[in-house]
Amino acid sequence: MSEGCIRLVNLQKRFGAQEVLRGVNLDVPIGKITVVIGRSGTGKSVLLKILMGLMRADEGQILIGGANITRFGDRELLKVRNRFGMVFQHSALFDSMSVFENVAFPLREHERLRERELAARVNAALASVGLVEHGHKDVHQLSGGMRKRAAVARALVRKPEFLLYDEPTTGLDPIMTAHVDELIRSTQDSTPGLTSLVISHDMAATLRIADKVAMLHEGAVIFEGTAEDLQNTDHAAVRQFVEGRLDGPIHL
Ligand SMILES: Nc1ncnc2c1ncn2[C@@H]1O[C@H](COP(=O)(O)OP(=O)(O)OP(=O)(O)O)[C@@H](O)[C@H]1O
Ligand SMILES: [Mg+2]
Repeated sequence: MSEGCIRLVNLQKRFGAQEVLRGVNLDVPIGKITVVIGRSGTGKSVLLKILMGLMRADEGQILIGGANITRFGDRELLKVRNRFGMVFQHSALFDSMSVFENVAFPLREHERLRERELAARVNAALASVGLVEHGHKDVHQLSGGMRKRAAVARALVRKPEFLLYDEPTTGLDPIMTAHVDELIRSTQDSTPGLTSLVISHDMAATLRIADKVAMLHEGAVIFEGTAEDLQNTDHAAVRQFVEGRLDGPIHL
């Protein structure tokens, strides 16, 4: 296999009688931004959770640097998880804590740092998302866009190799959306070797930031290509999704 990607091979996941992932095959290139699109409920968040080792697949392989992590025991899996940062779909910040303490949390959990060093790491992460002056605020005092940025800072603070974003711009206004897209792109470009995987519904954002796009539909990847390929594809279901049309092979 190519060392240059995370490779998902025939990933399957069911919940009871519901088959959510029916054999997902996808290469996620190292050092690039891959955007996964697809309808609500198709299993995008489940895919991220499996990739990050928060949930186990029923079948299939996840190859990282040649190792199949689906075979890993809990201890080894924990080490893999430490290589990932995740921006959760609903930010998942602690409302009762300050922004600073939210970003400090993963460091306090996993690394033994002196308070000064910890503060330097947290402030650097906050600075990278333009929040360094808001560290003292409680999360409930932030706007939606600031929360997203705080969530990105928390995901970045341990310097992960792989950064996963689950619908980072859903619910934000168009200008804040453009800011968060810009943040995803600039974080990628300023972090050597970083691999970003972004789940998105937002076609404009996808076209703006993606080095690679994949579409998940009915439990499988039905399209892989560049943003340009996406715009030029004649795959009927992909076109319908991209253009947001009611007529086509996809029904409610
Ligand atoms: N822990 C779970 N137990 C049972 N069913 C689950 C669980 N997690 C997810 N599902 C189901 O799997 C399907 C896919 O869910 P998922 O959250 O991955 O969708 P999604 O593609 O991320 O959708 P959205 O775009 O709305 O976030 C849904 O039908 C959901 O109800
Ligand atoms: Mg989701």
